[in-house]
Amino acid sequence: MDRSNSGLNTCLVGLQWGDEGKGKIVDILTESFDIIVRYQGGSNAGHTVVVNNEKFVLHLIPSGILRKNKMCVIGSGVVLDPRQLLEEIAGLREKNVEIRSDNFRVSEIAHLVFPYHKKLDELSESEKGDEKIGTTRKGIGPCYADKMARNGIRVSDLFHPEHFKQRLKKVVEEKNKIFVRLFDADALSWNEIYDEYCGYAEQIKPFVCNTVAFMDSAVKARKKILFEGAQGSMLDVDFGTYPFITSSSVTAGGAAVGVGICPKQIHKILGVMKSYTTRVGSGPFPSELNDELGNHLREKGGEYGATTGRPRRCGWFDAVAVKHAIMINGAESAVLTKLDVLDEQKTIKICVGYKFDNKVYDVFPTDLAAWPECQPIYKEMPGWQKDTSKMRDRNDIPSHAKGYIDALEKILGIRIEMLSVGPDRGQVVSLV
Ligand code: GDP
Ligand code: IMO
Ligand code: MG
Repeated sequence: MDRSNSGLNTCLVGLQWGDEGKGKIVDILTESFDIIVRYQGGSNAGHTVVVNNEKFVLHLIPSGILRKNKMCVIGSGVVLDPRQLLEEIAGLREKNVEIRSDNFRVSEIAHLVFPYHKKLDELSESEKGDEKIGTTRKGIGPCYADKMARNGIRVSDLFHPEHFKQRLKKVVEEKNKIFVRLFDADALSWNEIYDEYCGYAEQIKPFVCNTVAFMDSAVKARKKILFEGAQGSMLDVDFGTYPFITSSSVTAGGAAVGVGICPKQIHKILGVMKSYTTRVGSGPFPSELNDELGNHLREKGGEYGATTGRPRRCGWFDAVAVKHAIMINGAESAVLTKLDVLDEQKTIKICVGYKFDNKVYDVFPTDLAAWPECQPIYKEMPGWQKDTSKMRDRNDIPSHAKGYIDALEKILGIRIEMLSVGPDRGQVVSLV
């Protein structure tokens, strides 16, 4: 990694449809930072880190937690499922990862995910049938919807029991009208939720603080901050493939809002992109491979959801989509992951444009109607057909792999500063 850049506060963002390998890269970069902060999303994220063959999957807690003496923060832009958080803490502690109030903080103004959010996610997906989004069913969309509609309940509300009870009762009664009248489903008991969440309140209390003030002090003390994006830019609520998106601002712009920090404090925007493309759930994917090769990428790349276990859809690298992601983030450099997964290929393709309605697009179309019709235009490159997984030095990169990396840099107009060639923490090649 570029050690000379390590003094810069950095925002790490996925440049595709999620699962680019962000967790692994955050874990590596954490060495050079003091504070690692999640700014959006919730337990829909599944960030995998492999250390000496031991696998950790982080959903809510920043992937920096595996390193000692680093502060991990859940910012106010995250939607917090306390049950999931406590399970995650317990699972990590079982693996001897230390989680204390001096290395982990949770924003007191983060919105809480409740059982009614998950139920609504579930019911609305089932209702949509073939048109479903394919959500993780973690209640993410309904929770952000309540936040915007000013019906949300935040972490700090838990610590005012009478106020929390009254608010919860009102919200659950409203939700029950939807469940019973609209979906013909069972009502939920606000009493049970109240008791359950009061129990969680006690357990999460040591970690809860005013993270806005905390981060402000950190900036003033010149602490180095790493912002850990979840999902991918093509799932962004505004700039992704709407409505097949998640419900948060995934891009670097979202980091300032989701932490309560001045945008000028984000000095570097680092993209993470996989050497091919994957997507979980529904939505456009012009370079998708519904064939043997797609199956090979899925099996070799272990492309099964870290959160839901669902098989991921696989396809060639889509440079049109990544260029769009680079633009909306202002990313100057990137990490290219999972190069090893392409090792066997004789020919490698990069999608450099879409054909639609007798026109060629090299800019990502914003029109929903265009997506199903978009046909990929490919640039073909020779494969390297060599094992790259043991490669650690840039001088060992096979020439055709170098050709692929150079072509991506040229097409995308971005510098690739690191390669990842396997799931383990050590399987990287620095290019700077
Ligand atoms: P994230 O959501 O972006 O953190 O990515 P996920 O953890 O959901 O998915 C990435 C998957 O690829 C995980 O199983 C990682 O262990 C694995 N992985 C990460 N980098 C590499 C790599 O360079 N090569 C291979 N073969 N696997 C990788
Ligand atoms: P990480 O952080 C890949 C997808 C879901 C679905 C859509 C909406 O591990 O990269 P949601 O539950 O968020 O309402 O689902 O977004 N999705 C992800 N896909 N990686 C993720 O996170 C994702 N988080 C959500 O599959 O298509
Ligand atoms: Mg993931």
